[in-house]
Amino acid sequence: MIGIIGAMDEEVAILKESMEVQDMMERAGMTFVKGIMSGKEVVVVRSGIGKVNMGICAQILIDCFGVDTLINTGVAGSLDADINIGDIVISTDAVQHDMDVSMLGDPVGQIPRMDTFSFPADEKLVKLAVEVNKEVNPDIQTFTGRVLSGDQFISGKEKKEYLVKTFDGKCAEMEGAAMAQTAYLNKVSYVIIRAISDKADNSATMDYPEFVKMAITHYVGLVKGLVERM
Ligand code: ADE
Repeated sequence: MIGIIGAMDEEVAILKESMEVQDMMERAGMTFVKGIMSGKEVVVVRSGIGKVNMGICAQILIDCFGVDTLINTGVAGSLDADINIGDIVISTDAVQHDMDVSMLGDPVGQIPRMDTFSFPADEKLVKLAVEVNKEVNPDIQTFTGRVLSGDQFISGKEKKEYLVKTFDGKCAEMEGAAMAQTAYLNKVSYVIIRAISDKADNSATMDYPEFVKMAITHYVGLVKGLVERM
C-alpha cells in the first residue's frame, strides 16, 4: 500500500481527482482517501503544514492502512542557483534543519540520541522517480539531493546561505524530513518529490501563488507515473 501526502489542499487536490475513490477515513482532523491510482492501491491525504502534522499523518498511514511506501509531494524553495522555479527535486535523504542541540555538542540538525544524522530515501524509488520525471516532464530539470525541513518558511538571503553552508541541501520545505523520520522508525521506504515554487529568498514574492500552481502540475504527472511503475 502506497501513502501519498501533501501538506496543503491544493497540493493533493489534483492527485485525488486522478484516483478511483473506494473509501474515506477521518483521523486527527485529516481525511484519508483510499482508492486506486494508476492501477495501484493508494491512500492520498493532506497532512497540514509543518513537521508535527506530517509525523502524525505518516504514522496513521502506517498503523491504519498498512502503508509500506510513503511519498511526500509538494512545493519547496530552491537552495541552489541552478535549480529553477518549476524544476523537480527528488530526495536522497532528509534533515530537520531547525533541530539544534549544538549547545550540548551535537551537530546542528542531529536529533539527539538517534543513530543517524539524516534519513535516507529508498534508492530504488529515487532512481525510478528520476527516470519517470525525465519522461513525463522532459522540459524541466530533475535534481536529486538532500531535502531540508523546518517549521519555517525560508525567505531571507542570510538564512538561505546558512542552510546551504551547514547542510548542503537542495531545497527547503516544512514537512519532508518528518515523514522521513517516521519512515525510518517504522522501517518503511520513502521518497520526497518537490517542485520548486520559489528561490527561498525574497525575490518574486508577488508571483508565488502562480508559481505554486505551475509547480504542482509538474509533480502530479511524476507521482502518477511513479506509482504506475512501482
Ligand atoms: N515551501 C515552498 N517554499 C518554501 C520555502 N521557501 N521555505 C519553506 N517551505 C517552502
